Amino acid sequence: MMLVVGARPQIIKSAPIIREALKHSAVELQLVHTGQHYDYEMSKVFFDELDLPDPVVNLGVGSGSHGWQTGEMLIRVEKAVLRFKPDVVLVPGDTNSTLAGALAAVKLHVPVGHVEAGARSYDMGMPEEVNRRLTDHCSRFLFTVSDNCTNNLLKEGIEKERIFQVGDTMYDAFLQHSPRALKRDVLKRFGLEPDSYVVLTVHRPSNVEDPANLKNIVDAVSQLNETMVFPAHPRTMERLRQSGLIKNLEKTGNVKLIDPVSYHEMLKLTADARLVLTDSGGLQKEAFWLHTPCFTLREHTEWMETVEYGANVLVGNNKKMIVQKATECLAADDTKNKIKGVFNPFGDGKASVKMINSSLFDKSVIT
Ligand code: UD1
Repeated sequence: MMLVVGARPQIIKSAPIIREALKHSAVELQLVHTGQHYDYEMSKVFFDELDLPDPVVNLGVGSGSHGWQTGEMLIRVEKAVLRFKPDVVLVPGDTNSTLAGALAAVKLHVPVGHVEAGARSYDMGMPEEVNRRLTDHCSRFLFTVSDNCTNNLLKEGIEKERIFQVGDTMYDAFLQHSPRALKRDVLKRFGLEPDSYVVLTVHRPSNVEDPANLKNIVDAVSQLNETMVFPAHPRTMERLRQSGLIKNLEKTGNVKLIDPVSYHEMLKLTADARLVLTDSGGLQKEAFWLHTPCFTLREHTEWMETVEYGANVLVGNNKKMIVQKATECLAADDTKNKIKGVFNPFGDGKASVKMINSSLFDKSVIT
């Protein structure tokens, strides 16, 4: 079995699958890293912290335009598939590495397993929506995390025999790591007190590539005047510098702009925050599991369950909306308790066990 990863969130959602696969002597795991993320704090730190084996190969693709990056990965993953001859190729998530891995395999007639299949934001302007739709439609095994995701696939005419609702491997990772993560001493490092700060993350092209949208978010943050910790994606940091908006953030005096943090550190920062402002997909769910209210800096989300349950509010990059909704939440004192009582639709924490024990390795099903 080959597992293709490349970007930060894919490493996290693959960790429980890797651990489970290593327990089964019948499963020969070939972990391939495309090299989409290459900075220590965007990739290697997760292998170290999550105690993962090194990939058998790093394809070293790196950054570039979407077409170039996906094309280059396609060429290099194809070579890896020809070299390692896997029975099946697993691709987690919705990044360019996901799509390239799926395309390389399916074109060589190797069955594809898509981890986190069926997620839909219904916003084709997001590169991730394009990646996940195309990946789903060329996959043999579609591993979904929730009823919503399963229903999305059925609506698109995908046969139910291809769909395996196993739950969310991110939830598996969360359960496996939160006991250790929540003991981390990270608040002290950034001079934060529990329940008295906001976590902010922004990295979507729609928010950072358009200076007007980035300015709306920076203005909202300045107006909110709350202590904030802002682990910035390298591209976001670059855009803040280029646009000069970094000075506006510095002027507020209460925004701690820091380098990207590790998985454990992020869980701890999120657990102790009053609220989260983010455009990340994964962080919306992690905030939900940690009972921290989330305000999503997007117009759409693939995790509508969290919105329907009142744990997440879509505020886009509309300054007025961000300030108004976050202020209301900060004034209320029972929001965390309300989220605590909510049903978790993302499985039972055994998604990776079910996945590895599924018919994935049954040759009669594969062929
Ligand atoms: C990718 C995923 C996104 C995911 C995110 C997590 C796609 C289309 N998007 O977005 O779904 O939420 O990863 O972070 O695959 N850069 C560095 N160092 C790195 C990696 C990137 O400096 O290690 C910078 C480069 O300037 C690069 C930019 O970040 O051009 C964007 O990186 P890229 O891999 O294209 O996409 P992400 O925005 O990280």
